[in-house]
Amino acid sequence: MTGLPLYDVADLADVPPETPVRVDVAGTPICLVNVGGTIHAVHDVCTHALESLSGGWVTGDRIECPRHGAAFSVITGVPLTLPATMPLPTFGVAIKDGRILVDPTPSRPHPLYGN
Ligand code: FES
Repeated sequence: MTGLPLYDVADLADVPPETPVRVDVAGTPICLVNVGGTIHAVHDVCTHALESLSGGWVTGDRIECPRHGAAFSVITGVPLTLPATMPLPTFGVAIKDGRILVDPTPSRPHPLYGN
């Protein structure tokens, strides 16, 4: 966490396991994923060709892009399969009173998206 204000983005119940959910945080599209009861947040835009990852599929801690099938870790943001080669930004998450709070500061710049 960076100390910046966190954004209240969703109810915990709205992000069930293996169901990616897109939210917008300060103008940035972010994909929330529930992995075994822990919520993780990655940039929603694929680093291969800008597809929305929340339209893809989650298995465990992996999300698969619906366009060309690259997989990323939703914990670290690193690409696990081609054709993606560049990592996704990740975001800090906190849970308070059943609400999901997201830190808007990315772990790294998005290589294509611009923020
Ligand atoms: S746009 Fe995601 S794998 Fe190509």
